Amino acid sequence: MNSIAIDGPAGAGKSTIAKLLARELGMIYVDTGAMYRAMAVHFLRRGLSADDAAGIAAACETAQVEIRYEDGAQQVYLNGENVTGLLRTEAVGNMASASSVYAPVRARMVALQQDLAAKTPVVMDGRDIGTVVLPDARLKIYLTASVEERARRRANELREKGQEADLAQIMHDIEERDRRDMNRPIGPLKQAADAVLVDSSHMTIAQVIDTIREQYEQRAGN
Ligand code: DC
Repeated sequence: MNSIAIDGPAGAGKSTIAKLLARELGMIYVDTGAMYRAMAVHFLRRGLSADDAAGIAAACETAQVEIRYEDGAQQVYLNGENVTGLLRTEAVGNMASASSVYAPVRARMVALQQDLAAKTPVVMDGRDIGTVVLPDARLKIYLTASVEERARRRANELREKGQEADLAQIMHDIEERDRRDMNRPIGPLKQAADAVLVDSSHMTIAQVIDTIREQYEQRAGN
C-alpha cells in the first residue's frame, strides 16, 4: 500500500510534518491522536476516571467517532458533534494517553483507521501505525526529538493559541505520557523494525519533510 506511517512520542512534530507532507504528495492526512482525543472528551464528559477500566469499556459503546474532511482539513465528530476545537488541551491529551491503554478503545480506533487507509493512500501519524495499523505501509518513519525540545514546542503551540503553558509541568507530562505510551501492553509506541528513525531535535520542518519525501520516492521507484 502506498501510505506513509509516522509514529513517535508526543511533541515530536508528527502532525505538523504529516500534514505538510500529505499536501505535497497529494495524499490524505489522518491524525489518529485526534481520534483518541475525541474518545477522551467522551470519557471526561461522563466524569470517568482514567483508571476506571469497566466504565471506559462501557462508555466506548456509546461513542461514535467519525472523521470527515472539510476544505481539506480533518474534522473529528463525536456522536454527530464536531469536537475538533476541543481536542488539543493538556487535559484531553493526558486522558487520551491514559484511556488509550484499554483494549476496547484501541480496537475501535484501529478498525476506523484501517477503514480510512483502505479507501485512499494516507499519511497517518500516531503511536502504533507502522507496527499495528498499517504494517504494509510503503514507508514507516519513527519521528522523535529530545524531551526538552518537545516540551518547548508544545509550550509554544499552547501559547500561540492563547493558552497557559508551564514548561516544567509540560515536560513532566510529556515524560509521563512517553512512559505510558511506550509501556502499555497493546499497541505500545515503538519503532517498527523496518521504520526509518528521524530525530528532529536539530532539524527544521523543511529538512524533516525533505528527508521523508526522499525516502518515499526511493521506495516508490523500487
Ligand atoms: O498524538 P497525540 O498527542 O494527539 O495523542 C494523544 C494520545 O493518544 C497519546 O498520548 C496516546 C494516544 N494515541 C495512541 O495510543 N495511538 C495512536 N495511534 C495515537 C495516539
